[in-house]
Amino acid sequence: MSNHNIIEFHASSTTSMSGLARVPGDKSISHRSIMMGSIADGVTQVKGFLEGEDALCTMNAFRDMGVKIDGPVDGKVTVYGVGLHGLKPSSKPLDCGNSGTSMRLISGLLAGQDFDSELVGDASLSKRPMKRVMDPLALMGANIHALEGGRPPLKVRGKRPLKAIHYDLPMASAQVKSCVLLAGLYADGITSVTEPAITRDHTERMLNGFGVQVKTENGQISIEGGQVLKATSIDVPSDISSAAFFMVAASICENADITLKHVGMNPTRTGIIDILKLMGANLELSNHAVVGGEPVADVRIRSAQLKGIQIPEHLVPLAIDEFPVLFVAAANAIGQTVLTGAEELRVKESDRIAVMAKGLQACGIDATPTVDGMIINGVGGQPGTRYHSAEIESQGDHRIAMSFTVAAIRATGTMRIKGAQTVDTSFPGFVQLASSLGLNVQSVKI
Ligand code: S3P
Repeated sequence: MSNHNIIEFHASSTTSMSGLARVPGDKSISHRSIMMGSIADGVTQVKGFLEGEDALCTMNAFRDMGVKIDGPVDGKVTVYGVGLHGLKPSSKPLDCGNSGTSMRLISGLLAGQDFDSELVGDASLSKRPMKRVMDPLALMGANIHALEGGRPPLKVRGKRPLKAIHYDLPMASAQVKSCVLLAGLYADGITSVTEPAITRDHTERMLNGFGVQVKTENGQISIEGGQVLKATSIDVPSDISSAAFFMVAASICENADITLKHVGMNPTRTGIIDILKLMGANLELSNHAVVGGEPVADVRIRSAQLKGIQIPEHLVPLAIDEFPVLFVAAANAIGQTVLTGAEELRVKESDRIAVMAKGLQACGIDATPTVDGMIINGVGGQPGTRYHSAEIESQGDHRIAMSFTVAAIRATGTMRIKGAQTVDTSFPGFVQLASSLGLNVQSVKI
């Protein structure tokens, strides 16, 4: 997934947003649909698949391991499952691009294979910590080698069968949880995990959809090895993490009334809605439904004067990808917003505490990074623009680039957002969709 053009976003203020939109499919669910479809017996049909680079990396990795996959065409994908023991060694390293989800979840599956594999990533992924998956997989008997400090590339020497373990996750991470559960499919008994806080449960839900029993009891999640996955159909909801940009955009824009359709409402993902409501946002949910075990709803967002809050820590893992844009909400609120307990933000596609604080400060906003969060004194309450534009370095992080596009709604001048090509990892078509709702943003090839 290289050969990118270098892209800058040029974004400026807008005073009105309106319309109806459907943001692309959920990234987490799209990854998992390929992984589970690949090791299932039979043919899995997926619709609403996210055609972003991260999910395409997962797709290509399974193709490299001998799985036939058709698509994506208009979000439709067909995965011809090879069964639990049907993956084949790839002739080249599996390229996870920018995607931590690909690397961490696939390493769990590879740990249970009787062949060796190598997982590589781009510059951003190559800096991210993998010890968190190496530790439990080593306890299960796999041999994983990484560069110093547990950084990619990862060389995985699988073992069959793996040893079933109980693992207390040291951090609230759905990726680590999912890695252990997927490895647990290849273990000789019951593998279980406990998590320090509830994290997204798409793996558990989707495994159930493939006919695998995953039990969640008193905070412990367990899976018995050797269970066969039966192919199914998957309808991927719109990604609430992508919808989040427009939830904040419409909230801070002077005259906004927009509706986002078919947004995933899995309760382990809706922290953004809870936090924005605590800040005084005007959000209305309707058309509730359940698609393939995942709740969805339409979300109507109208302008609101947000207020600063102390963000409740239990909501942090439920909104973990939304903090870059929530910092923009806080910058536009009246009063102080304080985030704590979010040190995980430092090991995402970039150090999201440092990079966001730097960008907000460059716009003249009073933002102070802390070890595990941020303190922001918002400038809301004034009509018109509220701060100035700046040149932003998105540091290989799609969510930073989109967050400053939203920040531009209330900025004087033009926000120049560098490195915006990474937006394609999670939100292809972002500029077109944002423009259709009224944002002033252009994508410029450099
Ligand atoms: C994801 C889990 C989260 C999230 C990432 C996707 C997943 O990471 O930040 O974008 O699909 O499981 P962590 O589990 O490391 O917090």
